[in-house]
Amino acid sequence: MAQIDIIGSGHMARGIAVRMLQGNHKVRILGRNGNQTRELVESLGPGATGAYAGSAIESPVVVLAIPHRETKTAILEYGSGLDGKTVVDISNPIDYTTFDRLTTAPGISAAEETASFLEGRADVVKAFNTVFPKTLETGTVAGQPLDVFIAGDSETAKRKISALTAESGMRPIDAGPLRRARELEAFMLLVMGLQVNPEHERFNWDTALKILP
Ligand SMILES: NC(=O)c1ccc[n+]([C@@H]2O[C@H](COP(=O)([O-])OP(=O)(O)OC[C@H]3O[C@@H](n4cnc5c(N)ncnc54)[C@H](OP(=O)(O)O)[C@@H]3O)[C@@H](O)[C@H]2O)c1
Repeated sequence: MAQIDIIGSGHMARGIAVRMLQGNHKVRILGRNGNQTRELVESLGPGATGAYAGSAIESPVVVLAIPHRETKTAILEYGSGLDGKTVVDISNPIDYTTFDRLTTAPGISAAEETASFLEGRADVVKAFNTVFPKTLETGTVAGQPLDVFIAGDSETAKRKISALTAESGMRPIDAGPLRRARELEAFMLLVMGLQVNPEHERFNWDTALKILP
């Protein structure tokens, strides 16, 4: 049984927490909104605890369930508490007003930016950006386990996240080094562009990226 610290108390924090609890892991929600954090922890039930944003990190794995634009601020806030940890970047750095462009600079992914903010003090893994909160809660898409694409430069860190993912009922797929996050993030720009396009009725927020069989 592992413990995972999740920074953020929103939709993805809930979805990832539900899956990890299903895998008999413990989750700790670090939320900056006290009421929302308390409600989330209560609804998650046994195995979930909460703490105020900025509390000391206690777990070897830290999930950044916050908007991409807030990553630098959060990394500064948690400071040396992140040293030696596996930090999971789940973000989709997309302009949500147009769904027409990434908000990262050309040639770099949000996950690589996260790694640069951490300056080598922690291992960064890209994961969970291709799944959505509702599918995480059910654990399936079209009746099949979710695929979780995992990119990172540390094999040890990737193995750790792969194991947590598999134990929580999903299929981990090693996508390669951290720079593959560029493609994982760009692909979600395409997917979300389809999801918000009324011409594509079957693409909605209950979809997930899955390779068949
Ligand atoms: N939703 C999706 O479909 C989806 C799918 C894949 C990946 N993602 C990615 O997952 C991440 C979270 O998305 P979400 O849908 O869960 O968003 P959300 O529901 O809006 O939740 C975001 C959470 O981040 C917190 N937060 C914001 N700035 C923070 C900071 N500086 N320090 C600590 N906490 C902070 C918010 O706190 P407050 O409530 O106090 O503002 C909130 O709890 C994003 O990077 C997104 O791109 C989302």
